[in-house]
Amino acid sequence: MVQIDILTLFPQMFQGPLSSGIFKRATDRKLVGISIHNIRDYTHDKHHIVDDYAYGGGAGMVLKPEPIFEAVEAIKPDVPAEDGIEALRIILLTPQGRLFCQQVALELSACNHLILICGHYEGVDERVREYLVSDEISIGDYVLSGGEFAAMVVADAVVRLVPGVLGSEASPIDDSHATGLLEYPQYTRPSVYRGWAVPEILLSGNHAQIAKWHREQSIIRTLERRPELLDKANLSVEERQLLSQAKSSLEGR
Ligand code: 6GU
Repeated sequence: MVQIDILTLFPQMFQGPLSSGIFKRATDRKLVGISIHNIRDYTHDKHHIVDDYAYGGGAGMVLKPEPIFEAVEAIKPDVPAEDGIEALRIILLTPQGRLFCQQVALELSACNHLILICGHYEGVDERVREYLVSDEISIGDYVLSGGEFAAMVVADAVVRLVPGVLGSEASPIDDSHATGLLEYPQYTRPSVYRGWAVPEILLSGNHAQIAKWHREQSIIRTLERRPELLDKANLSVEERQLLSQAKSSLEGR
């Protein structure tokens, strides 16, 4: 079982996502446990204050360290992980973090406990970064008002990689990005819709030819849309050949 604890100032934002789709499926089957914790519950003052002015001035409020440290300490298991097993990651969601990608999702899906801390306001007291968290993650080069949506993105990408969460019919092995390539075009019935026909090869029943077509289409699509991904993709000699052909025909257009 993988446990994901999310620390947030807005716990109600998670109610919808957690009650449907992949999260519900994974938690109902007890493959994943997801708990939402309100950072405000770990304050001790009458007004439950979680933020304060920045030392040295500057615009905006900063999240105080005490409630975040105390929330993590309340959640964190007392027993440390066995040697060599990376069990627990304490992750701060912040636009200053390491860029999230499928490789990071895979890495996190191998941990059995994630604590995700949603940053807010102008920032988080630097001692949280220095002395509490093990990772800082950003989901892209744009600014969100808080880490909540980022935490949901990370949790979704990780949960679907936990063995047993996806049915056997939907394997994460062929996903866009899992192979380093974008996914090939897919079709379902009807074979002709408004006069637009499905590529004939897909109706041929020739599985070897279809597999080849899928791989070709993935390469062409990646070349057209995300050429920088091809530098890192694992291609066979044959596929490299196909790629250079596709490149010349693209240039010829
Ligand atoms: Cl993790 N947080 C915020 N506030 N903005 C972001 C982000 C995270 N990732 C991209 N933009």
